[in-house]
Amino acid sequence: MGNLVLDVNGTRVSVSAPAGEPLLWVLRNRLHLTGTRYGCGEGQCGACTVLLDGRATRSCLTSAGAAAHSKIVTIEGLEHDGKLSAVQQAFLDEGAFQCGYCTSGMIMSATALLRDARKPSEREIVAAMNGNVCRCGTYARILVAIQRAAQIQGAGR
Ligand code: FES
Ligand code: FES
Repeated sequence: MGNLVLDVNGTRVSVSAPAGEPLLWVLRNRLHLTGTRYGCGEGQCGACTVLLDGRATRSCLTSAGAAAHSKIVTIEGLEHDGKLSAVQQAFLDEGAFQCGYCTSGMIMSATALLRDARKPSEREIVAAMNGNVCRCGTYARILVAIQRAAQIQGAGR
């Protein structure tokens, strides 16, 4: 068991964990950031998605040691000064969830998409979100929410 220093949501934290432990477990069980979800544990559902240096990354397949050199952002790190991010707000406004289990992973993937593409087409959104599964089938509203977030971000730039 080693001491890892991770950059999580803008804060450097020291955590005692094996370097090979999945980042998902370090976030949830050791740092108590439980907004990141455990779905399949096999890279197939996207529920565990976080940002590593801005890129959507499956935290179930990424070791904590491998993430130690990156800036890690979880769903808890998206709001600033009590204000939700554009993507979070758009998901809320469009009611883009039912049970909400997939939602943080969806929001993290959408956040990564809108960082790279300011005005993604519907096809680009579908392609970028392809690895995120919603068992409740709220895909249509998720699509609208991401389009709305792109508009909000575009207006703010
Ligand atoms: S829990 Fe990581 S992709 Fe499903
Ligand atoms: S809202 Fe239930 S899994 Fe997506």
